[in-house]
Amino acid sequence: MMDAEPLTVDNQKELHRRSPNTPVGFHTLAALGVKHYIMNIENDAWKTDGTFEALCKARGYITNDEVNLDRTFPPEKQAIFFAEHLHDDEEVRFVLDGTGYFDVRDRNDEWVRMLVTPGDVIVLPAGIYHRFTLDTAMKIKVLRLFQQDAKWVAINRPREDNSARQKYLTFLSKTAVGPQSERNGVLFDPTKYDTMVEAQTEAMKSAALFVLFTGTKDALNNESWCPDCTADYGKIGTEVGKQLDANASSRYLEVLVHRESYKGNAAYPLRLQPQIGPFLNKSGIPTLVRYDVDKDGTRSAPVVHPYLEADSKL
Ligand SMILES: [Fe+2]
Repeated sequence: MMDAEPLTVDNQKELHRRSPNTPVGFHTLAALGVKHYIMNIENDAWKTDGTFEALCKARGYITNDEVNLDRTFPPEKQAIFFAEHLHDDEEVRFVLDGTGYFDVRDRNDEWVRMLVTPGDVIVLPAGIYHRFTLDTAMKIKVLRLFQQDAKWVAINRPREDNSARQKYLTFLSKTAVGPQSERNGVLFDPTKYDTMVEAQTEAMKSAALFVLFTGTKDALNNESWCPDCTADYGKIGTEVGKQLDANASSRYLEVLVHRESYKGNAAYPLRLQPQIGPFLNKSGIPTLVRYDVDKDGTRSAPVVHPYLEADSKL
């Protein structure tokens, strides 16, 4: 998984790694709604070990077909695959053999290039702009997985009016308290937490910064991998929304926690953050904290905000 530079059709099959390389973490992909699974392809273990059936059942994939691409794949069809497009449905590819590149647009509308290799299952959410290319090895064999009634049409950019696109943009931009704004931000890279809190509170006076730590969500249904996060999300949004209404200088930050980086990982950066780590290690997610900034601009240590107690008093 890696970052990418601007590409041309002429050199689309090259690696395009930045120098120095700037790898894109799985938390970035998760925050884009891109999902990644790994199947055991050794001796076709995936056919009998239950993992493939479990995935299909969980996401509603009812049919699949196999596609083989190699040097005989016509250039004009390669150009179609490489034209930036979206779909009304998820694009799901299970790589059985060979390699290739999927490029997806990140939150800044820049390309992120993903190298896929045998055993990778990649799920691109409906509405995300993306494209595919063979690499210089010119060989890939994939299973395409489909949900019921999948239309499976490539809709080239721009199609901002497309309903899947609209739904995807809402998924990207909406937090528990509404559309993102200067006062309502999202963070998914845990290594940037301290910088973000500093930036958010820099110009603040006599106001509060509320920070919610919550699991990343699935673009398919807006549900988090963390059931408690899904259950409490609406209540937290209501509670913080009232606080933001009451003080126009207060702000909210939603920190999206990537499951595979966080669960059972004592080295997850926010577990090591001196003020936040103890909260996460004690009660997990969701956790809502509040920083108070006084009239002189001095920021307090964060305290856990008892949103559930507040809610029960209503
Ligand atoms: Fe596609």
